[in-house]
Amino acid sequence: MRVLVSGGAGYIGSHTVVQLVAAGHDVVIVDSFANAKPTVMNRIEALTGTAVPLHSFDITDRDKTEHLFASEPFDAVIHFAGLKAVGESMDKPLEYYENNLDSTFSLVRAMRRHGVPNLVFSSSATVYGDRSEPPYREDFEPIEATSPYGRTKVFNEHVLRDVAVGSDGFKVAILRYFNPVGAHPSGMIGDDPSGIPNNLMPFIAQVAVGRRDRLTVHGDDYPTADGTCERDYIHVEDLAAGHIAALHWMAAHDRPVSTWNLGTGKGTSVLEMLSAFSRAVGREVPYAVGPRRPGDQPRTWADPALARDELGWTAVKTVDDMCVDTWRWQSANPQGYPDA
Ligand code: NAD
Ligand code: WQD
Repeated sequence: MRVLVSGGAGYIGSHTVVQLVAAGHDVVIVDSFANAKPTVMNRIEALTGTAVPLHSFDITDRDKTEHLFASEPFDAVIHFAGLKAVGESMDKPLEYYENNLDSTFSLVRAMRRHGVPNLVFSSSATVYGDRSEPPYREDFEPIEATSPYGRTKVFNEHVLRDVAVGSDGFKVAILRYFNPVGAHPSGMIGDDPSGIPNNLMPFIAQVAVGRRDRLTVHGDDYPTADGTCERDYIHVEDLAAGHIAALHWMAAHDRPVSTWNLGTGKGTSVLEMLSAFSRAVGREVPYAVGPRRPGDQPRTWADPALARDELGWTAVKTVDDMCVDTWRWQSANPQGYPDA
């Protein structure tokens, strides 16, 4: 298939691009580099042996997006492009709503006009809000979220569902990711957050490599086995494989809307993740326990049965794989991607 990948220079997008090329797809990236470094493109080329074509623009620009679709044929779009920091979305809600919704409107409008039938969308477990109990199932309703970022995912899901149900031949796959971590086993591409990482895994990795003094564990008085929160961490390589499985499934089926969780179905606590990372590095990663972080759920994990039964996809990588691969990436690239 000829696949346009929006946000293909980002963390999950870059891993998915590498797998798409390996699977024989013809891939084109569009990315504004709002949250990516251009040097990732050299790494993608080294891993794939191909200079993946790149369009460098902001897809909220409808004219440029329309022009791209008028100039090249596509069979499918995987839409990763978006802003993703929960905390930042509280400070800049309008920026989040504009970017994360306008990008979808712009893409879907161009896809409809040019008869591109398949859209895979990056949603998030955040749409399960704070009222569902794990394991989270795709049929949980109503979806809702507790941050502007999360609400952009909820709204996007509604928009895409309405458009797919109302338009002949336009199909969407909504993929709800749990907690993506890890890196390509080569250590050449990985998660490279700008500024202080919000997420657990990149924070631990930056402590281990000496960029930060210690991890602060956000609370150890939760009603869990060791008192720290449990999450469903999923290796980014498994996640990327889930996108390819979804793409193949959609191309072969006529169902307008499909929603699949991409998770492992298992919870891992903050302290368990820290121990696994220490094993990967071969020494203790320093930490201190701090207060709870507002908004954190004690435990979240997926029911991954639907993706297993329909897509034949299951996550296969272990927590140790996630830590070993993250450490390979972080130790080879202590400051992340180079600027040039
Ligand atoms: P990322 O920031 O690394 O990648 C997103 C990419 O999109 C970046 O390269 C950025 O430059 C680009 N981009 C942003 N807005 C754009 C625009 N308007 N036009 C063109 N390019 C634009 O993030 P990621 O972790 O790879 O996440 C990819 C998607 O998955 C996002 O939609 C995110 O919300 C979603 N998601 C991520 C996680 C996670 O924890 N990483 C979890 C659930 C869902
Ligand atoms: C995991 C656990 C923290 C940092 C977020 C988004 C979610 C999705 C994935 C996009 C929690 C603890 C963390 C630290 C810590 N993203 N922690 N010290 O909050 O489950 O999910 O990313 O859609 O929408 O909310 O992930 O990695 O931030 O936290 O103790 O310095 O690690 O309290 O228990 P979260 P996370």
